[in-house]
Amino acid sequence: MLAVRRGAALPWRRLASSTAATAAAAGITCHSDRFDYLREILNSRVYDVAVETGLQRAPKLSRTLGCEVHIKREDTQPVFSFKIRGAYNKIVSLDAAALGAGVVACSAGNHAQGVAFSCRYLEARAVVVMPRGTPRIKVDSVRQHGGEYVDVRLVGDSYDEAAAEAHRLVRDEGLTLIHPFDDPLVIAGQGSVGAEILRQKNGKRLDAIFCCCGGGGLLAGVAAYVKQVRPDVAVYGVEACDAAGMTASLDRGERVVLDRVGLFADGAAVKAVGAETFRLAHKYVDGMITVDNDEICAAIKQGFEDTRCVLEPAGALALAGLRKHVEGKALGGDASGRSYVAVSSGANMDFDRLRFVSERADRSEVRLAVTIPEAPGAFQKFYDHIFPCNVTEFSYRFHRHDAPAHIIVAFQPQTDAYMGRLSDAGYSPRNITDDELVNTHLRHLNGGRSEFVGEERLFRFEFPEAPGALKTFLSHFETDAFNCSLFHYRNYGHDFGRVLVGVQATTDRAEAKLDAFLAELGYRYVEETDNETYVQFLTANRRATA
Ligand SMILES: Cc1ncc(COP(=O)(O)O)c(C=O)c1O
Repeated sequence: MLAVRRGAALPWRRLASSTAATAAAAGITCHSDRFDYLREILNSRVYDVAVETGLQRAPKLSRTLGCEVHIKREDTQPVFSFKIRGAYNKIVSLDAAALGAGVVACSAGNHAQGVAFSCRYLEARAVVVMPRGTPRIKVDSVRQHGGEYVDVRLVGDSYDEAAAEAHRLVRDEGLTLIHPFDDPLVIAGQGSVGAEILRQKNGKRLDAIFCCCGGGGLLAGVAAYVKQVRPDVAVYGVEACDAAGMTASLDRGERVVLDRVGLFADGAAVKAVGAETFRLAHKYVDGMITVDNDEICAAIKQGFEDTRCVLEPAGALALAGLRKHVEGKALGGDASGRSYVAVSSGANMDFDRLRFVSERADRSEVRLAVTIPEAPGAFQKFYDHIFPCNVTEFSYRFHRHDAPAHIIVAFQPQTDAYMGRLSDAGYSPRNITDDELVNTHLRHLNGGRSEFVGEERLFRFEFPEAPGALKTFLSHFETDAFNCSLFHYRNYGHDFGRVLVGVQATTDRAEAKLDAFLAELGYRYVEETDNETYVQFLTANRRATA
């Protein structure tokens, strides 16, 4: 979990000179050996545009983890991320001539918004270069923050091509590059987050601060401040495990360029950390933690539960790392009496992502594949063994009379007790909770067309989303008269449960009983037996194949 501890000192001279060379190549004036971060952070000019954000106690997470957790609410900045601090601190430091000539940034994310906001405030010209194909919403929000001062240019098909255009503007038109992280003044601006945390903690116990790490500007700035002022406070960087450039670099003792990075936490998806940010991280950071997408989603949910704010994936990385640290071996699971801070670094959530996040955030569910007899009443008998658990998913499709039925069932709470109980009852449940293939695809494809289902009627039900609704349904189901041939339910957080049920009622008596059952049950339903797509995809009906 903790991938790296700051090890024996690396040959600092070599790092310092490579830092200077890289910085020069990027057009950055970087006097890393002369730059006094403490002084620069304390003198940073961020408060013209940024606010001192709250250090908010997280009561639920504190209770869950058995320690004191506070969240540094950088998501409440005017551009909904800390990025405005570094961008502004750099731009405001430019002399009148440089400011008059204008600045350029290459970013489709939060840095671009910070630059745009700052330039509008300073009435300075900015060009923001983004790759073609950048989502419209990102282009619009930069235009909105920058107004008439910002010219958004869509150039190239990749970040690298857009960056090349930004460098051309520096060369040919004399604009000043505002780097998103690898610039001492940007790092100093981000470091003001660390200064605020220590001031807000007011000398009280603080064991560790957790920061998201992309290019490393926030982590480097916070660590440079905190480790000089309160060396007793540990500073950890947190990365997505498929974009862990700082972890790899610190492990190797030199900057590593990743071939590819996962884009879920897109704000922090960087192939190469900065030279100066690496130098500072190597010097000051206590360790790195990597987390996967499910852990990030769970952290978004935890952040929401304590703040009622939806963090973007990168914005929740620090919380995910804090949780992993506290629950991990490092502390033997015992964190009582300890005090931690996680920086919630941004809330520019892409709304379309929420569906994925809520689906993956729920680690309280267990999902099983179970085989039950293909016989009337088998469903109910099985269900009796997991009642009163809250069933969140149930899918089944009739295959043939002489073969067993395979079902997928998910329920809460997540416990192993049911595995033993089901095994004792003669079922052979398989825990498929963490099976990526199932989670993404197979559970949506379970069943499909049935060759042998024969005459089947299909109903869309609205179950009350209340405990016992499924039990009521099953106990009313006249199993001697008709057979359930399809069942599909997934809890999507609607106000009612949407359940699809196929029923084989082959005699007139069974038909009559089915009608009576539907009336007695009292749940709203729509019959879909003649739905063309159902006939085409889920039955072997000649109408569809003709
Ligand atoms: C929300 C959010 N968190 C964290 C980061 C990572 O910041 P840095 O590149 O300074 O490590 C970013 C970068 O844009 C971000 O937008």
